[in-house]
Amino acid sequence: MSETERANSMSEERSVRRVCGIAGSLRQSSFNRVVLRAAQELAPEELTIEIFDGLGEVPLFNQDVEAVGDPSGVTALKEAIRGADALLIATPEYNGGVPGVLKNALDWASRVGAGSTSALSGKPAAIFGASPGRLGTARAQPQLRLALESSGVFVMPKPEVHLMSISGHVTDGILVDETARRIVASLMEAFSHWISQVHV
Ligand code: FNR
Repeated sequence: MSETERANSMSEERSVRRVCGIAGSLRQSSFNRVVLRAAQELAPEELTIEIFDGLGEVPLFNQDVEAVGDPSGVTALKEAIRGADALLIATPEYNGGVPGVLKNALDWASRVGAGSTSALSGKPAAIFGASPGRLGTARAQPQLRLALESSGVFVMPKPEVHLMSISGHVTDGILVDETARRIVASLMEAFSHWISQVHV
């Protein structure tokens, strides 16, 4: 079998996977939502990315509230994650860390209901992030990785994607910079392989 035939047959074997995409920002013109949409557009055809847009409906975590039942925003979040084969998170960086709104949502999602596992447990995930600054969320991402891994998520180790100076690469809400688009496309290609490795 030639290399091309081998590559074709491997890609034919890849199953269609549903990915839940989350941008960790509530900002209307969030750069992280922009790069998440670019990932959706540039992903290989076997990945279907559905962007969860309900982060703003997830209340602050409170164990007393949880004890009487998940609020509807939390149920929607958990259902979006449970219904997907994998998780893709684009995180901003606030004060060198993960924005509270994203960490709060993950705290809710990490919780184990009576007699079940958490929505996050066992999911393959990829993380990336964008910022107007020069570090491109390089400090927030290790913290996000730790939080996810603490919840039983299999976070793809590489490539690490820090989209820096992002404001110059976005026009009218679209990631237009060709280099950045190639980086995002490579991330999604690697993610497809990672999902297949985790879901053997
Ligand atoms: C920021 N920003 C920021 N950027 C960064 O690269 N490192 C940082 O530590 C911080 N800290 C920070 C704290 C707070 C409270 C805010 C509001 C902002 C800037 C941040 O990267 C910028 O606002 C991004 O545009 C946020 O991402 P979205 O909303 O565009 O996705």
